Amino acid sequence: METLMLPFSPRYIILTICAVVTVLLLGIGLADGKVFDLVLIPSLIFAALTLLGIRDLTQKSHAVLRNYPISAHIRFLLEEIRPEMRQYFFESEKDGMPFSRDTRALVYQRAKMVLDKRPFGTQEDVYRDGYEWMHHSVAPKVHAAGEKFRITIGGPDCTRPYSASVFNISAMSFGALSPNAVRALNAGAKKGGFAHDTGEGGVSPYHRENGGDLIWEIGSGYFGCRNRDGSFDPEEFARVATDDQIKMVELKVSQGAKPGHGGVLPAAKVSEEISKIRGVSMGEDCISPATHRAFSTPLEMMAFIGEMRRLSGGKPAGFKLCARRCYRPESIRISSWSTAMKAAPVPRHWNSWIIWACRCARASISSTTR
Ligand SMILES: Cc1cc2nc3c(=O)[nH]c(=O)nc-3n(C[C@H](O)[C@H](O)[C@H](O)COP(=O)(O)O)c2cc1C
Repeated sequence: METLMLPFSPRYIILTICAVVTVLLLGIGLADGKVFDLVLIPSLIFAALTLLGIRDLTQKSHAVLRNYPISAHIRFLLEEIRPEMRQYFFESEKDGMPFSRDTRALVYQRAKMVLDKRPFGTQEDVYRDGYEWMHHSVAPKVHAAGEKFRITIGGPDCTRPYSASVFNISAMSFGALSPNAVRALNAGAKKGGFAHDTGEGGVSPYHRENGGDLIWEIGSGYFGCRNRDGSFDPEEFARVATDDQIKMVELKVSQGAKPGHGGVLPAAKVSEEISKIRGVSMGEDCISPATHRAFSTPLEMMAFIGEMRRLSGGKPAGFKLCARRCYRPESIRISSWSTAMKAAPVPRHWNSWIIWACRCARASISSTTR
């Protein structure tokens, strides 16, 4: 009895209705030739829905479709338009991560050179805990000149110190970024007088087109300065690092998105150009190993950074990591986790001590350590 009633259960009722209406409409159309034209299109629509329901019922990949044939498609449809619904109807000006609607609007307005002001006060809750503000002073100081926002990087061992802006462009490899993105970042660096970190993917022609200052980063794959077996090639490193546009060199120990795992640029993304720039084979995954081959202890690492400084002709040499300790390099960059996660597989967004460590650090600094 239960099985007989199944077509009338809430789960299958839509399919049953569609099948019954199809049969009815076709029956009416066939019985009375005068109304055939009238019922043809509706009966085709219901027949199509019935076929869709049968397909839902027999497929094995979506439990929800199997359990709720036809009607479950409404759920998929709603999921499809969920972001738009949230964005247009429900999200407040201050919602949205990592950038609120307000912040995004501001960026768009400034990029289009249109009015970016918000008259009639703020929508911020200025009394909430953690709200930061500046007090007006009755005796304000004269605005600091541009050079105050620069810091000279390079200790006594450095023969070519670099006067760096306090704001720079964090490492993002060519390969992870497109040629146009790299071009745009470097053009920005040139315009703003700050430095553009190449990321570990090597120095591409797009880094060079606009002549913005570069920090050349190498990671455990030693891309752009590696031997065929993936080990570090000092001569190639020296050849590239002594170029004038490169102002500092940097060793990547770790990055927030890849704690303890190294990284992969899948074979499908390794174009001929990327393979040339990185010095890796096409058709193979381009791997940044989890560990460095050039050193295995902190002191060896410091010696290696010293070697990078020497090979670059005395330029500041630093390292980037997602942890806490520092010894005596020219620069240490502590990277945060939230934006780094854009480059990470989702499971790595969770359960990593690095996340905890970087939450504590919550800083991205480049400074002398002496
Ligand atoms: C697309 C993309 C590519 C990245 N590639 C590198 C890289 O090659 N080397 C690196 O050290 N970090 C890389 N990162 C991490 C960023 O340099 C940066 O550390 C991270 O976004 C966190 O920002 P913050 O350091 O300014 O806090 C990448 C991030 C993104 C989003």
